[in-house]
Amino acid sequence: MNWLNEFPVPNLRRDHSSGLLELGGASVAQLARTFGTPLYLYDFDRIASRAEEINSELRKISEGSRAFYAMKALSNISVLKVIHGKGLGMDVVSGGEIERALAAGVTGGEIVFSGVAKTEEEIRLGIREKIACFNIESPHEVAELIRLAKGCGHKVPVALRINPDVDGKTHAKINTGLAETKFGLSPELAKKLTLEIMSCPDLSLLGVSCHIGSQIFDLNTIKAAALSVKDFALELLRLGAPITHVDMGGGLGVAYGPTEETPQPSFSAWVEAAKNALPDKSFDLHLEPGRSIVADAGILVTEVIDVKPAQKKTFAIVDAGMTELVRPAMYDAYHHVTPVEHKGVTTKFLTYDIVGPVCETSCWLASGVKLPELKRNDLVAILTAGAYGMSMASNYNTRNRPAEVAVISGKAKVIRKRETLRSLWESELV
Ligand code: LLP
Repeated sequence: MNWLNEFPVPNLRRDHSSGLLELGGASVAQLARTFGTPLYLYDFDRIASRAEEINSELRKISEGSRAFYAMKALSNISVLKVIHGKGLGMDVVSGGEIERALAAGVTGGEIVFSGVAKTEEEIRLGIREKIACFNIESPHEVAELIRLAKGCGHKVPVALRINPDVDGKTHAKINTGLAETKFGLSPELAKKLTLEIMSCPDLSLLGVSCHIGSQIFDLNTIKAAALSVKDFALELLRLGAPITHVDMGGGLGVAYGPTEETPQPSFSAWVEAAKNALPDKSFDLHLEPGRSIVADAGILVTEVIDVKPAQKKTFAIVDAGMTELVRPAMYDAYHHVTPVEHKGVTTKFLTYDIVGPVCETSCWLASGVKLPELKRNDLVAILTAGAYGMSMASNYNTRNRPAEVAVISGKAKVIRKRETLRSLWESELV
């Protein structure tokens, strides 16, 4: 059995004769030997083609319709350069992300700034860099923008982020469109703020934004949110606001395994649902995809340190854990696991819990998976790890974060060196 047949991932294949896993044409085992484990590998050709695909879907709507990559998903500068090279702007949520985007050669005019807690310093940075849009999330933010935009020499572009009170039908921890979450503004409050913004000569109200959550499979939820955004946009037009775009955020779901109940929705279906937010044809549609650009381009390669028979389970203890990929610990997320080498002749399959070295019961990567018998030093790949993997990695247990390697047309390039242990305590004062 080809261990990938049950869950095919684009650009990932197994060489039949050697049994070796290949990502974008490069041998995963060889890369792991060269660069060590744990190791993040990304197929840059796949990232580039996903970026290109979403922008071309949006261009069908209008010249000004565009995607802003939610860089929190995977923010390595080399990754940003590839995505920016395909014409996408960046959706950022901190001053750090603005600086990172600038370091990748993105101009301020290609950056939109989301997030519930923009500090004075971050707002000043955004104004200084003339970013494309502040997606406003609170009355305080409006007051701050009015204060800080004064005398800056240009009109600061803003949009109001609406909370449509729509359930994105996703994991509770990443569901952001319900009224009980901290995100966005109620349409009533947003309407009040509209008048304040419009009376300020230093701000220019350009649009409406919305983001109802992440890992969304049911596009009817996007459509429902889009319809309420449209209602609000029409209200703004009645009030005389010169809005020109609607930003429907990110959130498109990605298939993580063969057990997914419904197939992964396409970019075109997503755009179709989101465009219900446009009041008329003259409007531009913006989207902020993160996961759907990078998730399936990335894998996390890890080595088996120990195989431990326990009372109720067999644990394969590997050298990556919640520090490298926190999604299982945090959201009980499923990631498919496959051996890096599997000749297909093995008859012995066992059921494993794949767990990491960190001293927490929640440090696990996969539970109850059937795999060809594993032994110490075997390599396994954790699939669909490109999004919210490395970008959420931590140094808990004084563990240095892994290296990141890009595969570009079959050739490997280190895009981030493995963190040194020394750097972990370098800024500590004794
Ligand atoms: N726009 C805004 C305002 C967001 O807050 C997010 C994600 C996105 C766009 C991108 O959403 P995406 O297309 O990636 O679904 N750590 C979690 C996901 C957190 C998402 C946070 N916001 C996970 O690993 O599942």
